[in-house]
Parts: sequence; structure tokens; C-alpha cells
Amino acid sequence: MPPQSVLAFLETHARRFVDELCDYARIPSVSAQSQHKPDLVRCADWIASRARRAGLDVTVFPTRTNPIVVARTPRTDRRKPTFLVYGHYDVQPPEPLDLWTSPPFEPRIQGRNVFARGISDNKGQHLAHLNAVEAWLQSGEELPCNLTFLIEGEEEVGSGALQEFLPRHRGELACQGVVVSDNGIPSLKHPALTYGLRGVAALEVRVDGPSRDLHSGVYGGTVDNPAMVLCQILARLRDPRGRIAIPGYYDDVAPLSAYERRQLAKLPFDAGKYRRFLGVPKLSGEAGFTPEEQRTSRPTLEINGLTSGYQGEGSKTIIPAWASAKITLRLVPNQQPRKAITAVKRQLQKLCPPTVRLTVKHGHGGEPYLVAPDGALAQAALRALQAGFGHEALLAREGGSIPIVSAFKKHLRADTLLLGMALPDDNPHSPNEKFSLDAYARGMRMSAHLWPELAGAA
Ligand code: BES
Ligand code: ZN
Repeated sequence: MPPQSVLAFLETHARRFVDELCDYARIPSVSAQSQHKPDLVRCADWIASRARRAGLDVTVFPTRTNPIVVARTPRTDRRKPTFLVYGHYDVQPPEPLDLWTSPPFEPRIQGRNVFARGISDNKGQHLAHLNAVEAWLQSGEELPCNLTFLIEGEEEVGSGALQEFLPRHRGELACQGVVVSDNGIPSLKHPALTYGLRGVAALEVRVDGPSRDLHSGVYGGTVDNPAMVLCQILARLRDPRGRIAIPGYYDDVAPLSAYERRQLAKLPFDAGKYRRFLGVPKLSGEAGFTPEEQRTSRPTLEINGLTSGYQGEGSKTIIPAWASAKITLRLVPNQQPRKAITAVKRQLQKLCPPTVRLTVKHGHGGEPYLVAPDGALAQAALRALQAGFGHEALLAREGGSIPIVSAFKKHLRADTLLLGMALPDDNPHSPNEKFSLDAYARGMRMSAHLWPELAGAA
């Protein structure tokens, strides 16, 4: 249990914590768009000074891309265990802007929600931890562990700088465990420890045909159409039962155990509500698996963007010179991004007719993650979740990816506890992203409970 004064501090400062969350969300720290470069620097400085005011010793490390912020509790005590708290201050692009009910970088409070880009993914979640740690430090209580906050600015574009930073700073970042709140829970009544994440691998396929856009009447019927060819190739990558039709793609997929399937089945899920929330006429997925299993524990191949030909007003009768598609694979244990990409590439080339040229460009990749949920730290985290949210905590897996988590294992030899605060309707990466103020408050309380629990279990 944290001392009463820590919990009281959280209550007393609740208003300020909400105001500060809004200040943080006002900075348009979009890592994918180069015009926001100065905003990323500003955002790193904002969280650095916020951490300093909380009572931490802070260093901002410039990198070739966006700064990395490291903040630690003062006077490291070697007799206490150390935990690392990871978060990211960068956000996804807000587009399409016309679908937002209020501007994405002007936080709007409505009821118990705040709407803004990046507020749940991930500003609100790591700020909740920082607030809880401030409560410990400012109420004059002695934290039972050392803490290092590691906040980066390019998670949404693959964590390039941090991937290089980690092996170089492994001494300073040494820890007994990592805490990440960059994911979701089924509901405020169903807090969960997430013990698995999917990996990701990105690629871009391009089909080139004629040397320029051609008159489709004059030449149509004699040359192949790159847009048509690309569609035909892509359509053959998934079979009617929802399986990825690529030889070898499932070879390394770890099957779900009966225990895991029972745990996942305990998570509340209402197919009708889910379907209506997503706005689809019918759900679709791999036969033989529940939506929760499909979403978190089975691999996928998704087209993220498709471009070719004329997109302007009216019609233009051409055969486009080229067509391209952005694709990402979601991978599950024990698939390897490199191996999966190779299999996809081979199949794309095999399906490509000789009438066009096909090229594949690789993008970022991240390994899937899975940790045993029955270890001492995991059990301690479950107790903190229960104390913070006031409800029994469940075990969950998530479909999203946090590639740096497997790098923590590799370079720091530390397992990561994923303690999400986002709710299923928070709209991450979509218009009208929001964060629940109740999740924020409970997340802070959970974090206040977490440190004595983890220190006792380490
Ligand atoms: N917070 C998400 C990851 C996430 C979302 C994990 C929901 C679990 C549940 C993170 O910010 C994210 O979006 N990651 C990217 C990684 C990619 C750009 C390498 C993702 O999953 O698309
Ligand atoms: Zn994200």
C-alpha cells in the first residue's frame, strides 16, 4: 500500500493534472511529418521540465532525429530495485481533419473524456505514471525503488533513434523490469495485464508499366494496367477463409494454448457492440478463431494505402504508368519480421506477370512479444491494477505493436509489464482520439500502488 499522503496528493492535485495533460496534448508532436520537427523538440522540453518539477533528475539526449528524455529519481539507492517506465511523446498524424468534431490539438473536455490527438496514445498514459511518482516524491515519502523514465519521440515511426540508444546506454538504463502503459484495457471495470503484443513488418510494393500515363482508348487492350495487376496480385494474398495465402507464412506461428484461450474468453466482448462501433455491416476474420483471438494472437496482412492513376475531379481516361501499395504484416510469436517479409516478397514476385515490373521496398519492423504472466512481478502488477481500478485484473493480449519492448528484453534483459489505461473507444490513430479522465485518475492510483508492489516482488 502507498502511504495515505501519496493518495491524498493525487486527489488534491487532480485538477492541475488534467490542465497539464491538456497543455501536453496541445503540442502537435507528429513524428511522421517533417514540418513538425520543432514541435517534437518543444514537446521533449515540455515533458523534461514536467519531470523536473515532479522532482526527477532529467537529461534530454539529442539524437539524429527526435530527442530522448531520461528522468530518474534522485539519489539512486543500490539496495533498492530499479524499474524503467517507458512512454512516447510523439503522436500519429491527425488527418483527416474534417472528421474531428474539434481541432485535434485543442483539447476539449466533454463529460469525463478529453479529446485530442495523442492524448491516450500515449501522452495521458505516461503522464499518469509521472503524476503518481510526483505524488510519492512531493509528499516526502520514500519510494521503495529507483525509477527511470524513458520517453522517446518516434515510437509511431519505428523507434529508430531509441533502437540505437538502448545498447549504448544499457548501463544507465539497467533495471529489474520495465513498465509500459501504451495499450488498452477492455473497460474500467476490467483492468488487465497485457502479456503479449503482435509484431509488425512494413513494406511497399510498386508495379511499373508503361513509361508514362497513356491514353486508355488509343493503347488500352495492348498493354497491361499496373493498377489492375496490383489489385489482382494483392487479392490473391488472402484466401476466402481469412488465411494469408503465402507459403510458409504460418510455419513459426505459436499456437494458442487451451489455457490462453480460456483466459482470452474471460475478457468481456460483445460482438454486436464491437461491430456497430467499427461501423461495418459484418465482422470478418480467420475461420476457427474468436474475434479476440484474431485481433491479438493471429497474424495478418493489411493494405494500409493504395495509390495509382488519376485521383482528381471528374474522369481522366488513362492507363496509369504505375501503382503502389503500402502494406503491413502483424506478426505473432515466434514469427520473425525479416523472414515474414521474405516470404511475402517471394510470393509477390511469383504472382507478378511479365507484362509489368514489380519492386518491393522494406520499411520498419518489430518483433512480437510474449511474457509468462505467472511471474512474481506480473502478480504484483495484477495486485496494483486491482487496487488502482477497484476491480479484479484479467490477463490479456493485444494486437498492436510496441517494437521497443523486445529490444528491452534483448539489451536490458528485462521483461516488460504492459499496464494499459486506454479504453476500447479511445480512437487511437483515428479522428476524435480521446482519453478517459477516470482511466487517468485510476491509472495514477494504480501507479502509486505499483512501486511498493513491484519492489516487494523483485
Ligand atoms: N500504443 C500503440 C501500440 C498498441 C496499441 C499496443 C494498442 C497495444 C494496443 C503504439 O503507439 C502504436 O501505435 N504502435 C505502432 C507501431 C508501429 C508504427 C511500428 C502500431 O502498432 O502500429
Ligand atoms: Zn500509436
